[in-house]
Amino acid sequence: MPVVQKLYDACKDSFSANGPVSEEAIENIRAILDQMKPSNVGLEQEAQSARQWKGPINGTNGRKGHNGRLPYPPPIKYLHLHECDKFSIGIFCMPPSSIIPLHNHPGMTVLSKLLYGSLLVKSYDWIDLPGFNDPSQVHIPNMFMTLMAARILASVAIITSIEVECIPNMFMSLMAARILASVAIITSTEVECIPNKFMSLMDEESLSVLPPSHPLKLVLARPARLVRDSEMTAPCGTTVLYPTSGGNIHCFKALTPCALFDVLSPPYSSEDGRHCSYFRRAPKRELPEGTEAPCGIEPSEITWLEDTQPPENFVVWRGVYKGPIIRR
Ligand SMILES: [Fe+2]
Repeated sequence: MPVVQKLYDACKDSFSANGPVSEEAIENIRAILDQMKPSNVGLEQEAQSARQWKGPINGTNGRKGHNGRLPYPPPIKYLHLHECDKFSIGIFCMPPSSIIPLHNHPGMTVLSKLLYGSLLVKSYDWIDLPGFNDPSQVHIPNMFMTLMAARILASVAIITSIEVECIPNMFMSLMAARILASVAIITSTEVECIPNKFMSLMDEESLSVLPPSHPLKLVLARPARLVRDSEMTAPCGTTVLYPTSGGNIHCFKALTPCALFDVLSPPYSSEDGRHCSYFRRAPKRELPEGTEAPCGIEPSEITWLEDTQPPENFVVWRGVYKGPIIRR
């Protein structure tokens, strides 16, 4: 039986819509993935080219050269193998120098096997500190009211700092404009990640009127600890990340052409609160007074991460899976 079929059959028994059914189930999938080779998924030629690959190529993710004629290497390709409400299986084929930016897997367990090539991996886990909320868990109506209040307060601060003849009229116009703008932004965008949209409305002025420990301010950047910052070269073992450990937030940079086989359970689903968010490092912050880092973590080990949009040059194309057909 093809290894990929064996994997699929095992996934059906090992995963539920809430994720892996047991630790043994994860180990079972890990053992199958450990055996997985490029030839098992129709990538023998690509793996061969990767082995013969010499030296860096400039550019990233399929963008054209500045003169529009010199193409950069091909983009990252995603080969889709399967997706259901319990799990998804796919392969990221990355050209050298391409980057998959820092992103999360909320509430998910992910098993990854590097099939060929080398890459750099950096991963983090959130540090659980009281008062630092997961933006996806923020209560939207409360957040909206706080945001409105902050924007109004910030506007009052602007108005009272300048000389004007007719404060009431100006105040009312400003308020109306800001509230209308906020509502327009919120209602004009996809509702897949409302907290992010709120965050984009929170400008520096509004932020300045909130105390340092205000929850709304704190969700802008969350503390995380570095779990891994290393190179991986195939052949190597399968890695597993869990909802709150093992480096749930990670990024990759391909050092050579490489392919990463991923099994996710449960799969991403915005409807179920499992939206893929992207992050960047935020300026270091002081912990609010009275807050202590969990034992074993030095304050200097804390990295602050904030939501961001993926870079413009992050492009993933759908590739064609040429391996054995999976019988479902
Ligand atoms: Fe990932």
